[in-house]
Amino acid sequence: MDDISYFKKILGERGVVQDEEKLDDANTDWMRKYKGSSKLMLQPRTTEEVSQILKYCNSRCLAVVPQGGNTGLVGGSVPVFDELGWIYLFHIPKFLHFMCIFSIFGCHCRICFWCRFIMPLDLGAKGSCQIGGNVSTNAGGLRLIRYGSLHGSVLGLEAVLANGTVLDMLASLRKDNTGYDLKHLFIGSEGSLGIVTKVSILTPPKLSSVNLAFLACEDYASCQKLLLEAKRKLGEILSAFEFLDVNAMNLVLKHLDGLRDPLSSMHNFYVLIETTGSMESHDKEKLEAFLLQSMDSGLVTDGVLAQDINQTSSFWHIREGVPEALMKAGAVYKYDLSLPPEKMYELVEEMRTRLGSAANVVAYGHLGDGNLHLNISAPQYTDSILSKIEPFVYEWTSKHRGSISAEHGLGLMKADKIHYSKSPESVQLMAEIKKLIDPNRILNPYKVLPSSVLSQS
Ligand code: FAD
Ligand code: MLT
Ligand code: ZN
Repeated sequence: MDDISYFKKILGERGVVQDEEKLDDANTDWMRKYKGSSKLMLQPRTTEEVSQILKYCNSRCLAVVPQGGNTGLVGGSVPVFDELGWIYLFHIPKFLHFMCIFSIFGCHCRICFWCRFIMPLDLGAKGSCQIGGNVSTNAGGLRLIRYGSLHGSVLGLEAVLANGTVLDMLASLRKDNTGYDLKHLFIGSEGSLGIVTKVSILTPPKLSSVNLAFLACEDYASCQKLLLEAKRKLGEILSAFEFLDVNAMNLVLKHLDGLRDPLSSMHNFYVLIETTGSMESHDKEKLEAFLLQSMDSGLVTDGVLAQDINQTSSFWHIREGVPEALMKAGAVYKYDLSLPPEKMYELVEEMRTRLGSAANVVAYGHLGDGNLHLNISAPQYTDSILSKIEPFVYEWTSKHRGSISAEHGLGLMKADKIHYSKSPESVQLMAEIKKLIDPNRILNPYKVLPSSVLSQS
């Protein structure tokens, strides 16, 4: 029996997609930068089907790429060389168990249990990405400052290994120190160690009082000081601290329909501060007092508090719309860096000096988490622009002991750049773990780790 007939036997006709038109979208990443030419997409519906596919592929040394919502930004979810195709995971029950400390329940939406609990993760791609993709990329997003990373909120998961073994790590406990905590290997390993099929996640209660301020600062130092003040004075109710610079704001206003500047004039920097708490009057009073003090001290030069749900969503749309506005503006060189906040904007300014008028250097990100999204926008991709950006951006980040991937992962784009952030010994151990779990390298090869290191180990 040939491969296709075998897959049809386990998945039925509907689970084996070969129609070129249908495959075209999945062959292209969200950035439209990486394009594969694979001719087969498998759509399993159960863990058992995933297991059967992998067992077969492993026995035949056929490489596969797990794909969720295909919103990844580093080329991790498209087959790019000789991979057989994708395992498209849309039909896998996605959000299987959501847990809070006292209740356990199953759910298929992002907001759970009749909306009494929320997902601790929120990101601009929320309409399209999937929980398996989120966990596999260890996505960060807008509320990490409050709820921490998925390494903290994922309580357990189920993953299928390359040889088809189903690994049940679906704990729902907050504390469990029995041996190595293997689930962490699958959080952030970008589909290179296993396919995540179920997740249990700690869900915070949905609180009734949410406030959002859209503020302007004249310089980056003020944004930074504002962050320190917000942490001190808003304390436990602070739930997001995001920033964008004027170049990012201009792009959004130019390219996204229906958005207008909430402030009356342009400023150099914009900060969004969100609070989430349980007592409306107390929370609002606290935020208003904080804003007054920040204006008196000159840290904030202008600002507005969202008055209703429509304003809240349009303020968020400005921040969350930057990636889309960039895509509309042309070619994007995208970098996602962790840096000490006091160093972050120095890099942006150095990059502007290097590039001059050849490109528009745009900065935004999760300032509260020390996460800079440095994006360089140009009419098209050229070697000359790229050579001014790389390896400079990686060397600079490494020199300041930052990370070349704060939250997007390494994917294909940065697989061979890992040494800028990890020691040779760490990379070697990662390669050995990969070899142990996936000796035939069938799971998302060419991603995460440099092929040169993998072929040696
Ligand atoms: P995909 O893109 O399909 O895959 C991503 C990686 O995970 C690939 O390597 C793939 O092989 C692997 N994978 C997917 N599903 C599975 C699975 N079930 N098991 C094993 N491996 C799997 N990221 C952030 O961290 N923070 C943000 O704030 C953020 N905002 C974004 C905003 C926009 C507009 C866009 C387009 C992207 C944003 N991202 C952000 C990036 C992206 O959305 C995240 O990386 C997301 O977690 C990817 O999920 P996905 O389902 O689309 O995964
Ligand atoms: C964001 O924070 O908007 C996302 O990580 C996407 C991006 O960096 O472009
Ligand atoms: Zn981000």
